[in-house]
Parts: sequence; structure tokens; C-alpha cells
Amino acid sequence: MGFWFWVGTLSTLLVFETDVTKAEDRLGFKHINTYPVSTTQMLIPEQAFNKLVSLIPKKNAFDSIFKWLGLHEYLDAIFTGEPEHFRMGLGRIEKYGAQGLTISCAGCHVGTLFGKTVVGMSNRFPRANEFFADGKFALKFSTPEMFELMTGASPGEKQMFIDMKKASRRIGIVKPQSLGLDTSLAQVALSLARRNSDEWASFNSQLEKSPRADLLDHHVADSKPAVWWNLKYKTRFLSDGSIVSGDPIFTNFLWNEIGRGADLRELDQWFKTNEDTIRELREFVFNTSAPHWSDFFGKGTINVARARQGSALFHANCASCHGAYEKNWKTLENILVKYPTPTPVIDVGTDPGRREGMESLARGLNHLQISKNFVTVIEVQHGYVPPPLEGIFARFPYFHNNSVPSLCAVLTLASERPKHYYSRKQIDPQEDFDSDCVGYPSRKGDRVHFYDTTQPGQSNSGHDEGVFLKNGQEMYTPDQKRDIIEFLKTL
Ligand code: HEC
Ligand code: HEC
Repeated sequence: MGFWFWVGTLSTLLVFETDVTKAEDRLGFKHINTYPVSTTQMLIPEQAFNKLVSLIPKKNAFDSIFKWLGLHEYLDAIFTGEPEHFRMGLGRIEKYGAQGLTISCAGCHVGTLFGKTVVGMSNRFPRANEFFADGKFALKFSTPEMFELMTGASPGEKQMFIDMKKASRRIGIVKPQSLGLDTSLAQVALSLARRNSDEWASFNSQLEKSPRADLLDHHVADSKPAVWWNLKYKTRFLSDGSIVSGDPIFTNFLWNEIGRGADLRELDQWFKTNEDTIRELREFVFNTSAPHWSDFFGKGTINVARARQGSALFHANCASCHGAYEKNWKTLENILVKYPTPTPVIDVGTDPGRREGMESLARGLNHLQISKNFVTVIEVQHGYVPPPLEGIFARFPYFHNNSVPSLCAVLTLASERPKHYYSRKQIDPQEDFDSDCVGYPSRKGDRVHFYDTTQPGQSNSGHDEGVFLKNGQEMYTPDQKRDIIEFLKTL
């Protein structure tokens, strides 16, 4: 049974997950999963890879690799026992008469919460950057002939392998500091450092061997994947609002492709001949919606009286940065969201690493012809976007660098926030989630990753003075903070 048949069937089943009931939404959903850039160079020949993996003495080895990568299943009931264990975010493209696999947008932009898939939410545990780094290493030490011999690759698959090996020389990568963070910024900048600085970033075999030195060789600028449902409110993009002009979908394709060693003239051509695909994908991405507390917990679990008091406090003090949220207090739905235009960028003292890293990208990207063709402009910023807060209860750990494990900690003096915390999979709402503080519980359990705020780029500083402190004095009593958190749960 074909892959897209399943996706077609599933998309009508996954009512909550995606709401992809309309035909055009289904197309968008397909694009975020396939990775539609047919000119892409980093395609893993599927059959040959399968053969290679079958040498690993482990049950379901093929699927475990993509599970390790952090990719989520579509729906257990349907995929159990199927020979193709495709996961969301594993793209599949036909080229040279063979099937190639790659990581698609959904790999980083689909998350799960208590057994439900949330499209447009950051993947909590993505290993896409590591996958590229390990792949590059493996390619360096293997030849097409070896690959053919070991896997019985078809001529088309061998060609895919050759393309990949060549492209991998144009890819510069650093692994993320911490699981849950992403190093796409560095991957773009360090990949450009392996090319000429002309307007098409043409290839240069010398630079592929010894790249130019770059700020992001050492400077840590990691961040978490952003949520998609905020896009409709924004006029500039990325966590620091540094993309001040142009379509963010285009920019993301460009970044993804530079990080995969693309020929930019070919990519430019692909953009021009695939406007429909980009439009369908954009509509889907912009139309994703935030999950609600009530999707997971009974309505009675919100103390409405508290939430209403919290709303008053929030609108008196937080809304000027984060937007205003008009609610129907019976259903707890947001009726109207008023988010400031243009999108604000404010320095509240959070870790500067990520925004400082943009200096390298502004230098590497703004002068490119392909950026000019699509009017994408990067300007270094001196702060971050105070993001719209819909679905904020599901977006922990907080801040652009994941440095704060819960809303209680967000509203705690920076110097008193947890210096370390453990992340964990969100399977059981009682065990894995702290519903009072909204975030990771501090008790022991199946921990996934240790986060250390003393590491570079991972500081949990800021967002206290001018937020809930006035001249060093707390503005709210502990009870009022509980009210604010109760209100935030309803967003
Ligand atoms: C390897 C992980 C990864 C992949 C794959 C990926 N993204 Fe992202 N995406 C990120 C990260 C990380 C950010 C946030 C970076 C920041 O601003 O600090 C982001 C940000 C975005 C934003 C901006 C959001 C905002 O609020 O301004 C959009 C739009 C987006 N991605 C779309 C896409 C699309 C479309 C694709 C597929 C072509 C894609 N992404 C593939 C990691 C990824
Ligand atoms: C002066 C502007 C400003 C005010 C006022 C403000 N914030 Fe923020 N807030 C920010 C900025 C900027 C960020 C992003 C920081 C980062 O990611 O580094 C942020 C981040 C957050 C986040 C984390 C978002 C995420 O996706 O991780 C939460 C939650 C939050 N603020 C809640 C509040 C609450 C509640 C109040 C009122 C008590 C408030 N903020 C007042 C600017 C502000």
C-alpha cells in the first residue's frame, strides 16, 4: 500500500492532530512530510540503506534509527506490522528511478503530548543535526564502490550516494549543546564558509577542504524549533525577529537547502517552477493551530475564578509585549488575539548567544542573488520576540534556548530558577508533567536529558526586571503568580 494512501487516510482520521480535512490542507500536510525540494542533494537511497541496516542484528533496526532521530509515528494502530515504518518528518523523494529518504520540515516541527500528535509544535527531542553530522562522517570514509558492493545499490541509488558524498563536503555542522536544541544557524553559516562569497555562493573545492573561519565555529547560537501557529501574528520571523523582510517559508527552504549543500541556481529555478507547492505548504503551516488545555485535561481542572484574576494581571502588565487575549469565559476559547504590529523585539536580558549568531548569517546571506530575488533580509537584533502565548502550556521548556523548565520558573527571579533540570517524554500527564507549575516535574522518573544552564548559550538569565520585578521588588504575591499561570493555561 502506497505511503500517500496512508497519509490520505490518516489525515481524515487525525482530527485533532492536524484538522487536515480539506484537500488543499492534505497537500500542505504532504509537503511538510515529504520535503518537496526535488533538487535536494542529500537523499539516502532507501532500498540500499534498508539492506545495510538489515545487517544490524536488531529487530526493527530501520525504524529504530528514525525513532532515535526523534521522528514521531503517524498512528500506532495503523502502522504496527506494516513493512514500511515511516515516521512523520521522514521525507521520500523519487530520483534516478529510485527512492531517496531525507528529513523534512515535520522532523523538527511536529511534537507529541500525552499520546497526541501536535503539528506545528516543536519536536522536543530532535536529532536532525546529529543525523547530518554522523552522515557526513560516514560519507567521508566510504566510496560509491564500497556502498554498491555492500548494499547491491542500483545505478540510480549509486548516483544518489555520489551526489550525497559531494554535497556533504559543502556542509559544515556542529552538534547541538543540548538535546532539544537545534544548530541550523551554524549549519547554514558554516556551510556558506565552504563556498565562494559571490552572489550565488558557488562551489570551491579548496574551501570545502579548509573553510573560512566563522563566528559560529565556536560561538553557541542554538535555539529550539519555533511553533508554527504563531506565524499568522508576526511581521518578522525567527526567535529574534531578525528576518525583517520576505516570506519565512522561502527562507526556511533556503536555509535547509544551504545546509544540505544545494546549488543555489538550481534551487532558485526550483522555487520559480514550484510556486504552487510553496503556497500549499505555506497555507498549511500558517493555518496550524495551538493545542488547548481542554484537549488533554477536563474543563474542571481550570480554576476559572483564578484564571480571570490572572487575566486582569496579565493584561495590565504582560500584554503590551505578548499581546492581548479576549476570551469566552464559558468555553475558555480565545475569541480574539491582538498581537502588536510590527512584531516587537525586546531585550529582557535572556541569553544573547542565539541573537548574536545572526551576525554571521547577515554577512553570509543578504548579498546572495537568491535572497534578493525573494526579498529576504536579515538584520541583527538586540533582543528576542516576546512570542504570542497561544498553547503556551504545551511549549515548555521555555525561552528560545529551552533554559527554563516550567511557568513557575519563568515567573521566578532568574537567580533562583533551577540551574539544572531533566527533560522527559510527555506520555503520562500525571507522571511526566507538573500541571500546577506547567512544565517538567522535578521528581525522578524516565529522564531523557540533563539541561545545564551554566553551559554557553544555555543561561536562564533575564525576563524578571521589568516583567514581574520593579526596581528589584516583586510586583506580585505568590498567589497572584498562581493566578497568572492559571490564565496562561487557558491560552
Ligand atoms: C533541523 C530542524 C528543522 C527543520 C528540518 C526545519 N526547521 Fe523550521 N525552524 C527550526 C528552528 C530551530 C527554528 C527557530 C530558529 C530561531 O529562530 O531561533 C525554526 C523556525 C522556523 C520558522 C519561523 C518561525 C517564527 O516564529 O518566526 C518557520 C516558518 C519554519 N521554521 C518553517 C520550516 C519549514 C517550512 C521547514 C521545511 C522546509 C522547516 N522549518 C524545517 C528548525 C527546523
Ligand atoms: C518587556 C516585554 C515583556 C514583558 C512585559 C513580559 N515579557 Fe514574557 N517574554 C518577553 C520576551 C522578549 C520573551 C522571549 C525571551 C527569550 O526567548 O529569550 C518572553 C518570553 C516569555 C515566555 C516564554 C515563551 C516561550 O515560548 O518559551 C513566557 C511564558 C512569558 N514570557 C510570560 C510572560 C508573562 C506571564 C508576563 C507578565 C507577567 C511577561 N511575560 C511579560 C518579553 C516580555
